[in-house]
Amino acid sequence: MPRLLKTHYSAVVTVNGHVHRLTVPGHERLLTTLRERLHLFSARYGCGTGHCGACVVLVNEEPVPSCLLLTVRQQKNRIQTLEGLKKDSLLAQLMTSFAEEHAAQCGYCTPGLLLSARHLLKTCPSATESQLREELSSHICRCTGYYAPLRAIAKVRDSYAVD
Ligand code: FES
Ligand code: FES
Repeated sequence: MPRLLKTHYSAVVTVNGHVHRLTVPGHERLLTTLRERLHLFSARYGCGTGHCGACVVLVNEEPVPSCLLLTVRQQKNRIQTLEGLKKDSLLAQLMTSFAEEHAAQCGYCTPGLLLSARHLLKTCPSATESQLREELSSHICRCTGYYAPLRAIAKVRDSYAVD
């Protein structure tokens, strides 16, 4: 009798401070787990290859495309999605600025952009124009032409006071 290959694995993942004990296929990507098992829909599927930024989440505070990560490999990591940062003042400032500058149109790219912008301003509060552009270069936005998000992030940078 041939041995059956194991296809599902136990995974303990910490998302937005909550510990989830899951059983997932070995090939399941974190993006799928977030959306289909945990019902956290801010991270979106765009390209599936790490190029568009729509699925970006924070892994140990770093913005990372969740479509590239295997869920079973996340056991030691702290995952944060936009839903887990509702009380974050910098994120609130960015959201306000995006609204004021019309930087979110269809909004598909917006959660990923917000997380990357927040990370940049936290790690580099006086980021230059070219640093802002470089950060945005890992995100594809089909609606805004990038100028409005750049304006929105620069506006927060110019007024941001660390709590
Ligand atoms: S869906 Fe992950 S980077 Fe595009
Ligand atoms: S606002 Fe539509 S893709 Fe960016």
